[in-house]
Amino acid sequence: MESVRLTSFSHGAGCACKLGSVELSQVLGSLKSHPASSHPDLVVGLGTSDDAGVFALPGDGGRALVQTVDYFTPIIDDPYDWGRIAATNALSDVYAMGGRPLTALQILGWPRRDLPLDIASRVVDGGADVMANAGCVVVGGHTIDVTEPIYGFAVTGLVETENAVTNAGAEVGDVLVLTKPLGTGIIATAHKAGACPPEILAGAVRSMTTLNDVAGSALGSAHAATDVTGFGFLGHLLEMLDASKVGARIDVASVPLLDGVVGLHADGFYPGGSRRNLAAVRDRVEGSEEALPLLADAQTSGGLLVALPEGAVDDYIARVPSSTRVGVVTDRQGVVEVA
Ligand code: CO
Ligand code: CO
Repeated sequence: MESVRLTSFSHGAGCACKLGSVELSQVLGSLKSHPASSHPDLVVGLGTSDDAGVFALPGDGGRALVQTVDYFTPIIDDPYDWGRIAATNALSDVYAMGGRPLTALQILGWPRRDLPLDIASRVVDGGADVMANAGCVVVGGHTIDVTEPIYGFAVTGLVETENAVTNAGAEVGDVLVLTKPLGTGIIATAHKAGACPPEILAGAVRSMTTLNDVAGSALGSAHAATDVTGFGFLGHLLEMLDASKVGARIDVASVPLLDGVVGLHADGFYPGGSRRNLAAVRDRVEGSEEALPLLADAQTSGGLLVALPEGAVDDYIARVPSSTRVGVVTDRQGVVEVA
């Protein structure tokens, strides 16, 4: 059973298995206006396409729950690394809101007839190691028998309500900063095809297992933040621009890419989810055609995209050394200029 390839059980690569943004709004259509999704104590709900829900704790002096759930199919063959990536990714939505994770519920779907259970326990080991490292307590979970393996967590965190950082709030003139390089979708697709050199894969795994804890705890003066995952850099940027009613200009040369991504993309590796991302944003992006596929690539456990006032940028980059300026916020509402 040594030769089992987890990604051969997966139709999509990590967050690239998400429903597209257009499909998602079709599915969520009725829920957004349903009484079930509104409440006086709800600080952040479905309305702003945010990373996590924020709900003010009743009777508590200004603290709120931050809640999110994230799970996906295997992005990588190594079960331990898949578990680590899924846990890092699930925690990210709490960090992206400026929160700190408290507890997690594990979600596991396993094809029990086709895949040995000891592989599942390696996945669980990976997830547990990351949760322990993040100081997040795994309090329970749910496991089912399915045809395609799935793994992830529902995570609950805390935030001071007034410090919650959402997609809304980016202002014209803000600087956009990105904390991790792009390209995990392209690399995972090459890996699934057995065509990714090990050192390139290792770089992507290092990035996908790096917690956004430091990037999140430095958000103090941020106007807006989100993590870059399944909808890609452009998709999550546009969610922020729409929620903030602004536009952006991106300096494509300054957008960091993982080692090896450009070559693998040139060799034809590109996830279906990234293709859907590109189609969904195409008519709202102007300029530099050839860079768009890379900017639309579906990310798994990507970095934070942060809108900061100019005066706070140097301090943020000093505290989060992996971060880079990638653009500015403009008044061209809902439009991304790529130069
Ligand atoms: Co997110
Ligand atoms: Co998410």
